[in-house]
Amino acid sequence: MTLFKAYIKGTGSFFPAKKLTNKDLEKLVDTNDQWIKERTGISSRSIAADNETTSDLAYQASLQAIKSANIKKTDIDFIILATATPDYPMPNTACLVQHKLGIQNCPALDMSAACSGFVYALSVANQFIQTGTYKNILVIGAEVLHNFVNYTDRNTCILFGDGAGATILSRNEQCDDSVNNSINDRGIASHHLGADGSQSDLLEVPAGGSAQVITPEILKNHGHCVVMKGKELFKEAVLSMSQRCTEALEKNNLTNKDIDWVIPHQANTRIINAVAKQLDVPLEKVINEIKNMGNTSAATVPMALDIAVKDGRIKKGHWVLLVAFGSGLTSGSVLLKY
Ligand code: UT7
Repeated sequence: MTLFKAYIKGTGSFFPAKKLTNKDLEKLVDTNDQWIKERTGISSRSIAADNETTSDLAYQASLQAIKSANIKKTDIDFIILATATPDYPMPNTACLVQHKLGIQNCPALDMSAACSGFVYALSVANQFIQTGTYKNILVIGAEVLHNFVNYTDRNTCILFGDGAGATILSRNEQCDDSVNNSINDRGIASHHLGADGSQSDLLEVPAGGSAQVITPEILKNHGHCVVMKGKELFKEAVLSMSQRCTEALEKNNLTNKDIDWVIPHQANTRIINAVAKQLDVPLEKVINEIKNMGNTSAATVPMALDIAVKDGRIKKGHWVLLVAFGSGLTSGSVLLKY
């Protein structure tokens, strides 16, 4: 069976206009700008307006991705949207994005793998392209997290922001397996996914699902908000992301020196730096956009990718290693030639 190659043909991202700075957070909890910058690398985050939903952010990022891929909206064969903060329990948010785009004839699916969601979604989309089922898939990571953040908990409220990133994953029609290391060879080389449900309590939103419905009491006690065991999670994040990266390099007979860019999940600059150290990749090759973004969960990787494509750091033919980690504990990497 011929397997087609899937490459990233277009990217887009969207940051809501409203900003929440470290100085703003100083007024809410016992924290300070210096601590947040030193311990996380974050200076400010975008926060969606009251009337802005996850599908609104996803729609804006998608418009950019479609434009940069130079395809028509009707060329989209499938929409996969990764999020932990859907507009509703149902319908899924991908269907709402489809409607906002004004198209009808494609399936639309949400994926839930927390901060690893986009990497999972890209891996699933890759299968549909490889097998020849679809030619163009809109893959999105989008979150409006601030509604699930407890702004009296300084352990978590300093971290999270809202945003969306989108990509068009397309069949590489030029792909020729006999031509290696050329731009014709653009596309996903492999993906590596993992999960460890036994450690789910390290990062969770306890209420709002079938295990615990939301009651006035729960709302009052912020039971619908993110709770995190930061220190333990930190160690697991470094370990898992390093492992997923090593698997990708080994699978493709590449070394750290072959990689042009690593785009890790933007959870904390110290986590990003620790992963780079484990891989022995210089920080100049690591995309770190957390300063003005914060942790936007499933959206961090596609947002950082779009920024680095737009500012010219990532060029056609570069080896790019995407890697993420999140609640679950999910993790995943995608190695691709951009
Ligand atoms: O997206 C999914 C993946 N996410 C992650 O993996 C996040 C992983 N965790 C982290 O990023 C870090 O653990 C945090 C940023 C959450 C916390 O950083 P830390 O270096 O692990 O701090 P800590 O919790 O060990 O706290 C150190 C000190 C403590 O004070 P004492 O006990 O040393 O006196 C805390 O009470 O800093 C204190 N502290 C703060 N001080 C000012 C904790 N949070 C704050 C704060 N402002 N916001």
